[in-house]
Amino acid sequence: MSNFWNVYIIALVVLNIVGCAWLLMWTRKMNPADMPADGTTGHEYDGIREYNNPLPAWWLYLFWITLVFGVAYLVLYPGLGKFQGVLGWSSQQEVAQDEAAYQKQYGAIYADYAKVAIPELAKDARAMKIGGRLFANNCAACHGTDAHGARGFPNLTDSDWLYGGEPERIVETLTQGRTGMMPAWKEILGDEGVKKATHYVMSIAGRQADAGLAAAGQEVFATNCAACHGADGKGNPLMGAPNLTDKVWLYGGTEAAITQTLAEGRQGHMPAQKDLLGEERIHLLAAYVWSLSNNR
Ligand code: HEC
Ligand code: HEC
Repeated sequence: MSNFWNVYIIALVVLNIVGCAWLLMWTRKMNPADMPADGTTGHEYDGIREYNNPLPAWWLYLFWITLVFGVAYLVLYPGLGKFQGVLGWSSQQEVAQDEAAYQKQYGAIYADYAKVAIPELAKDARAMKIGGRLFANNCAACHGTDAHGARGFPNLTDSDWLYGGEPERIVETLTQGRTGMMPAWKEILGDEGVKKATHYVMSIAGRQADAGLAAAGQEVFATNCAACHGADGKGNPLMGAPNLTDKVWLYGGTEAAITQTLAEGRQGHMPAQKDLLGEERIHLLAAYVWSLSNNR
């Protein structure tokens, strides 16, 4: 915070508190002699007249108590510009303390689990319960509570993998994150080229397709798509290029969905978890993900 804002905020806060105190004093000191003799304020609205009775004392004291509380709070805790408060409390410190307490309670458990190989760990019911909770907190928002995924978010419970389902690959996916790189083809192939390639993809996926367009699309595929998706269209886990010949679709297998995928490209993004969760929790989560498609 720059010095200007520091002073600005302090001035605002102090002015507010002093202003409230002044208002309280001022309303107390109002002279009854200035008011109409019948004990009202003199206002009349729709035949309703307002009496000029003093506020009940307990009500006024409440105001004073809030003021004192406010001042005491600002002395003890951060609130006045850059002033940290005499207690030295900070939210970062509180998070650090919570984190340390968490590490003390669970650190040893995670460290033990980290020594167990993933296929082994996947058989440990207690570990999988903790893994399931980690998944619910960190992954379910995108992959679903049941890990079945949604459009653009892969299903983690089947044996179809973008990046490979071996334990090491899953650990790698979680640690560094992944970004799918499916280029947009509209500019390069034109609408006609996209249409041909779409029909070719539908044909290798076992869908109803126009035979003529599909045959023309085969050539388009061999020149432009095979490098990533493989000559046979079965995909390449090193690039996260999906298998196009199965019934599993990340973005949908209708003609419209495939056309959109080809025309505009797709860049699904899986955020890296290394700095968020750390190696040990990633190890446990990878075992949990692995168990979803292997422990059946
Ligand atoms: C912000 C949304 C988001 C969150 C949070 C997220 N993921 Fe993902 N995840 C994705 C997307 C999108 C992909 C597909 C990336 C792509 O298209 O290349 C993916 C891919 C994956 C894959 C690779 C699947 C495959 O077929 O190879 C795994 C494994 C995975 N996520 C596990 C997890 C786990 C475990 C967590 C929790 C720590 C998690 N994800 C959190 C969005 C997310
Ligand atoms: C540079 C590598 C690369 C090239 C070249 C490429 N793709 Fe892809 N393709 C990918 C990747 C990676 C994905 C997954 C995108 C994601 O995860 O968000 C993908 C996704 C797709 C999908 C979506 C599959 C689904 O399950 O929804 C289709 C369809 C597809 N590509 C077809 C093609 C066609 C046809 C061509 C050639 C015109 C092509 N791709 C060229 C890498 C490539």
